Amino acid sequence: MPNITLLRRARTMRLSKPLLSALLALAALSSGAGPAAAQTPAAPKVVTAAATPLPVVQGTRYSEKGADTCLNCHDEDADTAVHTTAAMFKSKHARRGDPRSPFAKGGLQCESCHGPGYNHSIKDSKKLPTINSQKASSFMTPAQRNAPCLGCHENSARNAWHAEGHGRADLACASCHKMHTAKDPVMAKATEAQVCYTCHKTQRAEFQRASAHPVRQGKMGCSDCHNAHGNSTPAMLAGQTLNQTCFSCHAEKRGPLLWEHAPVAEDCGQCHTSHGSPRAGLLTKSAPLLCQECHTVAGHPAVSRTAAGLPSQGGAGAIFVTAGSCLNCHTQVHGSNHPAGNKLMR
Ligand code: HEC
Ligand code: HEC
Ligand code: HEC
Ligand code: HEC
Ligand code: HEC
Ligand code: HEC
Ligand code: HEC
Ligand code: HEC
Ligand code: HEC
Ligand code: HEC
Repeated sequence: MPNITLLRRARTMRLSKPLLSALLALAALSSGAGPAAAQTPAAPKVVTAAATPLPVVQGTRYSEKGADTCLNCHDEDADTAVHTTAAMFKSKHARRGDPRSPFAKGGLQCESCHGPGYNHSIKDSKKLPTINSQKASSFMTPAQRNAPCLGCHENSARNAWHAEGHGRADLACASCHKMHTAKDPVMAKATEAQVCYTCHKTQRAEFQRASAHPVRQGKMGCSDCHNAHGNSTPAMLAGQTLNQTCFSCHAEKRGPLLWEHAPVAEDCGQCHTSHGSPRAGLLTKSAPLLCQECHTVAGHPAVSRTAAGLPSQGGAGAIFVTAGSCLNCHTQVHGSNHPAGNKLMR
């Protein structure tokens, strides 16, 4: 008997077909082929078995009555209830009035996502699985599982799917989207991040920091800045550039300004992190260090550089390092519109 658990495990390990068949043959030998076979490793037999094609294929025949057939077993009211799928009918996919919907007149209903499911085999039967379960445990590759979804949804929003980020990483649509529910958690700002954190643990920690964009509070979602379906921008940013992404909310930083501060116009990321920072204002570093990455203190009005000038002595140099440091005087760090604002002080 082919061992499904072994088969599935082997698939996730991405074994080659011949090796996989060999393993299955071995499993068959050890489980059902009689005591003699079980005791002998029988290498030649394995080689023969390796040529046998795999019987794992998706069914090709659709159910005669569509969902009605499926619901005979997959419904909370059915005697033989295996899984409750009823919540599907509260989702947008179940709108019969929408001609594009799986449940529109003439639609394939359940089988538009699960593929032909006539008399599909089940886990406890002796047959191998034949249905697109849309689950990670499936015998089908993510690309095969996604095909029915993309059949209806491949449009401008997802045309980068195959080339970028998550698509290139071979994610399944169902690794983010839940279909058998009235409200898909990844579609709501308040719950989206939890879905992303199942894989992106580092980012969860970043958003816990003292200064962070209000994702934790549910006021913002990751998709305010990222296009989860892929974009040709670095880190799949939603805007054309990092700055364009920020301007969608922080429009006042765009200008036009009489006196620009060069790094601001260039890349907010030179001074800010986007997820979270232990420093106030989402800063990558605190002033004066932040500013001194690019500036020396040369060109300043002379201040005492003796011990008396140390902050602990309350000296004149203190203003350069205490409180806002450089910002004590250069308050307009993002640029200025004041006629005399060229030194970013007003
Ligand atoms: C005769 C009863 C019956 C009918 C009819 C039926 N199923 Fe199933 N289905 C089952 C059983 C039993 C399982 C296995 C449950 C398990 O493995 O936990 C199952 C499992 C599934 C799974 C999960 C497979 C997996 O690998 O986890 C999907 C998806 C599914 N069925 C969809 C359908 C669809 C779509 C239809 C209609 C075309 C349908 N079923 C018709 C009994 C049925
Ligand atoms: C819009 C696509 C879509 C349609 C239509 C759809 N499903 Fe599903 N189904 C999924 C996805 C995706 C999953 C994977 C689990 C999840 O993320 O909810 C799934 C999972 C399942 C499972 C496995 C549940 C489990 O936990 O093992 C069953 C059974 C199932 N669907 C049956 C049905 C039946 C019956 C219908 C018709 C009434 C149906 N599905 C219609 C997308 C769909
Ligand atoms: C037969 C066509 C069809 C198939 C197959 C299909 N969808 Fe849809 N989907 C639709 C339609 C129609 C809508 C409603 C669009 C709208 O209202 O703007 C929709 C809506 C959605 C939404 C938005 C739901 C919401 O609450 O706003 C998501 C997410 C989605 N589909 C994902 C999927 C995934 C993932 C699959 C595969 C498992 C899939 N779809 C398969 C037609 C389909
Ligand atoms: C990494 C997580 C993730 C994956 C994987 C993913 N999506 Fe989405 N999807 C989202 C998020 C987040 C939203 C809501 C924000 C938005 O519209 O960009 C969304 C929105 C949608 C919508 C509704 C809005 C629209 O663009 O029409 C559809 C339809 C959809 N996804 C289909 C798919 C399909 C089909 C796949 C697989 C090819 C897929 N998604 C894979 C995260 C994901
Ligand atoms: C099932 C696991 C999984 C889930 C869930 C997931 N991701 Fe990802 N994500 C990945 C993988 C794997 C990559 C690596 C892709 C690559 O390097 O090409 C990735 C890459 C990314 C990148 C690009 C990183 C870079 O350096 O280019 C961003 C941004 C991202 N994910 C955001 C999200 C968001 C937002 C969500 C939720 C809507 C999400 N992810 C959900 C697995 C996941
Ligand atoms: C305020 C905008 C914003 C929000 C909200 C946001 N990101 Fe990002 N994210 C960015 C920017 C900008 C980068 C690119 C950083 C760079 O290139 O230096 C990035 C980078 C990433 C990367 C690539 C690796 C890294 O850390 O540089 C991943 C993964 C990622 N974000 C995931 C997420 C997830 C998951 C969420 C939601 C919990 C999220 N992001 C929310 C702006 C944002
Ligand atoms: C979807 C809207 C949105 C986008 C896009 C966005 N932000 Fe924000 N930003 C906010 C909100 C909301 C706050 C919080 C304001 C508050 O708490 O009063 C904030 C706060 C900030 C703060 C101040 C944090 C503090 O603790 O004082 C900085 C700095 C910042 N954002 C930088 C950026 C950068 C850089 C980008 C682009 C990578 C960006 N933002 C993109 C909405 C956005
Ligand atoms: C040269 C470094 C630098 C660059 C580049 C920079 N900022 Fe800032 N930003 C700062 C400093 C310093 C603060 C003050 C933090 C504080 O209040 O402690 C700040 C504060 C902020 C704040 C919160 C206070 C306010 O003024 O609203 C926002 C929002 C912000 N920056 C957005 C941006 C955006 C968007 C960009 C890119 C267009 C950007 N910053 C580029 C240094 C910079
Ligand atoms: C990433 C590099 C970088 C960082 C970090 C940076 N600056 Fe600048 N700054 C520049 C550049 C480049 C100019 C333009 C110099 C020029 O036009 O000669 C400039 C110009 C200035 C000017 C106007 C100088 C003049 O001659 O008109 C002041 C004042 C200034 N920066 C203050 C600051 C302060 C305060 C900080 C810290 C909050 C800071 N800068 C952080 C790169 C940086
Ligand atoms: C006590 C107020 C004060 C503090 C604190 C201060 N500056 Fe200045 N800064 C000035 C004044 C005043 C000028 C203008 C000098 C002039 O017009 O010739 C200036 C000019 C500059 C210039 C332009 C230099 C030039 O050649 O025109 C830069 C760059 C600058 N400061 C950076 C910084 C940095 C970085 C810090 C923090 C380490 C800092 N400043 C702290 C008052 C201050």
